[in-house]
Amino acid sequence: MAKTKLAPHVRKKLEEAAAKVMKNAHAPYSNFRVGSAILLTNGRIFSGCNVENASYGMTNCAERTAIFSAVAELGPGIEIAAVAVTNDKGAPCSPCGACRQVIYEFGPDATVFFQGSSGPKQAHITQLLPEGFRLQ
Ligand code: THU
Repeated sequence: MAKTKLAPHVRKKLEEAAAKVMKNAHAPYSNFRVGSAILLTNGRIFSGCNVENASYGMTNCAERTAIFSAVAELGPGIEIAAVAVTNDKGAPCSPCGACRQVIYEFGPDATVFFQGSSGPKQAHITQLLPEGFRLQ
């Protein structure tokens, strides 16, 4: 399953990138700012924040913002090795179901770092999303 374990300094860099971009969140409705950073298998890091909307359902989560930004810059061949998620409340916050499916699309072997109910946690994407959907 997961290949090489992420070096602690790379994980730190990813978490710092997530915390930095969190400050750009547009979250006037929930007042819950989220930042996410993704590490690609080519070593590049992309980050994103949540962008809410007065029409609530149009909200984009931080994780998807980061992933879509990587695709926009590098194209659809990106491969996600790891994802970090952070929020401004120090609250438990794992990626939502929609984001899990989007992570799986580009990172079927990705490791996800997030705040669990009893502290920092990491999980393989397939633990968070068993039987992820793929079109053959
Ligand atoms: N949110 C994220 O950006 N990522 C998550 O993993 C969980 C939730 C956002 C969506 C919305 O803007 C706010 O957090 C409250 O749900």
